[in-house]
Amino acid sequence: MTLAGRSLISLEDFSTEEIISILDLAEEMAEALGWEDAEQRQAAKPLDCILATLFFEPSTRTRVSFEAAMLRLGGGVITMADPKASSAAKGESLADAARIVGGYCDIIAIRHPQPGTAQIAVDNASVPVINAGDGHNQHPTQALTDLFCLRRHKDSLTGLKVGLCGDLKYGRTVHSLAPVLARLGCELVFISPDMLAMPPEIVESIGQTSDQTPQQTDDLAAAITDLDMLYMTRIQKERFADAAEYEHCKGIYVVDKATLRGAPEEMLIMHPLPRVGEISPEIDDDPRAVYFQQAAGGVPVRMALIALLLGLMPEAAAPKSGLAEPA
Ligand code: NCD
Repeated sequence: MTLAGRSLISLEDFSTEEIISILDLAEEMAEALGWEDAEQRQAAKPLDCILATLFFEPSTRTRVSFEAAMLRLGGGVITMADPKASSAAKGESLADAARIVGGYCDIIAIRHPQPGTAQIAVDNASVPVINAGDGHNQHPTQALTDLFCLRRHKDSLTGLKVGLCGDLKYGRTVHSLAPVLARLGCELVFISPDMLAMPPEIVESIGQTSDQTPQQTDDLAAAITDLDMLYMTRIQKERFADAAEYEHCKGIYVVDKATLRGAPEEMLIMHPLPRVGEISPEIDDDPRAVYFQQAAGGVPVRMALIALLLGLMPEAAAPKSGLAEPA
């Protein structure tokens, strides 16, 4: 099935082959951007397509990398990044806003604090919609960016042992990443206090697609000793109903030089960012710390996704090797 004309709410919407084809195209996009060799940079031809970014929640990386991606593809961008300056402040429904903006553009990237809002946009807009984060629910393009970074550093994703650490309850990035990692054949370890554990429905969906029951622990020091990748997350302060609960959890995990003494030499450290204390800047120069490279990958990944959803690319016939299929 083609990706052209489709929307992306959750990576569950895409087959493993489709996900691999996005990552493969992102590699080509990275090359066109001159990542490894600036002299190889290819200028984009002008593209008569417009991306609308509708952001009802704060964002730095996601919105800016979506916009950079569209500009690098040669297209144009219109943006609504301050809900107070839009008709949402007058009480306009999201359904109406999506219907109207869909008439002004060719593709929409939307972020909203309420879970389920990306689906409302899909149901009302006449163009493809990409979920750029809907509350605590899903953040599929971050998961694609995470996979892209992980695949660039490891030969195959199959068989990797990945620890997801921090706020697994409210963190939407891990809700998108954990199921796709399991589908690709990674072994998962969930590291969090009980009150921030991975929601049961995500654990259940992992069991359905991969036959694995991820290990759950609150002990980072014990779990870190045999991981191939540690994915740190921010405690999502803005999603706590009770400020006292946040105060109780904040600062619970901090990765610093001392933590890394117990970690394997080849273990990658990733984070969707922003960090607010979970990763000490003292490890930024450690070769295992790849979170800034991870963030940079957001541009080629979103270029690939936009190009495929807009039907601009002939789609790959078969996935490239290097990202082995689960058995
Ligand atoms: C994440 C998000 O918005 O969910 N940030 C991002 O998009 N890279 C993670 C976070 O805010 O903690």
